Amino acid sequence: MCGIVGYTGYRPAACIVVEGLKKLEYRGYDSFGVATKRNGLPIDCYKRQGRISEAEKAASMLKGTMGIGHTRWATHGVPNDVNAHPHSDCRRRIAVVHNGIIENYAGLKRGLIARGHCFSSETDTEVIAHLLEEEFNGDLVQAVQAVLPKLSGSYALLVMAEGDDRIIAARESSPLVIGVGDGEMFAASDMTPLLDHTERVIFLEDGDIAIITPGNVRILSGGVEVSRNVELIDWTCGDAKKGGFKHFMLKEIFEQPLVFSDTIRSVGVLPEGLARCNGTMVVACGTSYHAGMVFKYLLEEACSVPVRLELGSEFKYFTPPVTELVIGITQSGETADTLAALKKAKAHNCPTLAITNVLGSTVTRVADETLYMRAGPEISVAATKSFIAELAVLMQCVNHLSGGKFSEEIFRANRAIEEVLLLDLSAAVQACNIAKHIFFVGRGPFYAVALEGALKMKEISYIHAEGYAAGEIKHGPFALLSPETPVVAICMPGATYGVMVSNIKEMKARGTPVVVVGAAGDDELADISDVYIGLPNGGLMEELLMVTVVLQLLAYRTADSLGRDIDKPRNLAKSVTVE
Ligand code: F6R
Repeated sequence: MCGIVGYTGYRPAACIVVEGLKKLEYRGYDSFGVATKRNGLPIDCYKRQGRISEAEKAASMLKGTMGIGHTRWATHGVPNDVNAHPHSDCRRRIAVVHNGIIENYAGLKRGLIARGHCFSSETDTEVIAHLLEEEFNGDLVQAVQAVLPKLSGSYALLVMAEGDDRIIAARESSPLVIGVGDGEMFAASDMTPLLDHTERVIFLEDGDIAIITPGNVRILSGGVEVSRNVELIDWTCGDAKKGGFKHFMLKEIFEQPLVFSDTIRSVGVLPEGLARCNGTMVVACGTSYHAGMVFKYLLEEACSVPVRLELGSEFKYFTPPVTELVIGITQSGETADTLAALKKAKAHNCPTLAITNVLGSTVTRVADETLYMRAGPEISVAATKSFIAELAVLMQCVNHLSGGKFSEEIFRANRAIEEVLLLDLSAAVQACNIAKHIFFVGRGPFYAVALEGALKMKEISYIHAEGYAAGEIKHGPFALLSPETPVVAICMPGATYGVMVSNIKEMKARGTPVVVVGAAGDDELADISDVYIGLPNGGLMEELLMVTVVLQLLAYRTADSLGRDIDKPRNLAKSVTVE
């Protein structure tokens, strides 16, 4: 949550920082700000509430070849001009941008006020600027080193000060990447703002302080200079552009056939911990949790290996007994709850495996082993291609563990995804976009897909949507069924087909409009549904992928028909780095 960018070099810093912040807006977009510095002159600062696009010209006008910036997802203090970062000390000689939460800020603030400091904002971050003010006597590194031990919580920080020509970066439990250029250096919360400028990056580790000048980066850890690898990134700047699509979300949905096949091909020999496990536990949040749920159904069915599934946010505080491999699934690799769960699993001496999309992300350092998905940068806040990539990794794992039973199916599944991309969903959209509430129902692994469909619908259309196991809906939610509350029912051929048909008829008997997703050519199902979406034949894995894509598109087209801000839904941020 929140994105930070820094630049020092020979080009106008404000433009580079603003462009970078625009790429990080998916991490938070309620306000933004930039500060720049010219040799010997006071720091210039521009910050305001709202989207960058509303004021990027003014922000880009700041002069100087060194700058830092921030795009915010409010945690402490409402989104307004004053609470926007950068934050400064009393004399405005220091500028700080911060991603994370300073948990002990209230006590620190009381002490600073007692010592005569005046605060402008309600944020936790501002204490850092005032603490630095007390320590700064021309050497910003020494001041940062003196202040960091006083902070508890999480931070990725960029700091500049009048009278010091360096940007100081520091990291503790919040991601921070340095981009290495020629005669210029960059820093950012993640790689996306760097893609336009360099492919060489350094991932800072917890406790690192980086001292950044145009020609050099020095990194200190525990007061000692350390070396960190310069890594090459294989994402391109084209990956982070809309490429003619109306929204990133639509572009990302259309990338899914390729993402699926790239990821399937990239998963080679299974990590040892997984290859020899007799049972496993999955921890994850949101969409990634739903991928874990699909995995549970598939692995238990195909290999009789028990899979326990836990929400990252629950696991840390209510840890069930675990001895087996713990798998953390996280697109960003930075979700605080999933990281906390994995750390707890490690404290219990459990082997851990991360499944993530982001090279060098925190989870790759927490877990013993990592499997990467190949989704490329996902810019839209709503996860789509990363879900498909998670499924690709997990389906390939099931395939390996079952001795290759599903090889044929998963290697052709990209074509199944392609086939449903162009389905006409207009009748289903019309049934949904007038509703205030929608139920999504399915059974078995399709229950997981129903949960994911409901999550997509609610987060981008703002229509209240609930995913339910189809058999459970008559144990209470039936009271809510009415002609105004459509149900989207997943009814694929197989063991649950008959009982799903009965469920649909029961719902129809309550006057509920039902949109059914089933197999093409199923006349009985088409007859009993108000809107029927028929999918091509396929195996179970192909069906799961096709239904997922249909529900993503249904959510997208419904939200689009309502004119929603699809890539940046209200109140959300993509990377949830606070617990
Ligand atoms: C929903 C969505 C979120 C994320 C969740 C976990 O569209 O994007 O529910 O899935 O915040 O994020 P990661 O996978 O990065 O841990």
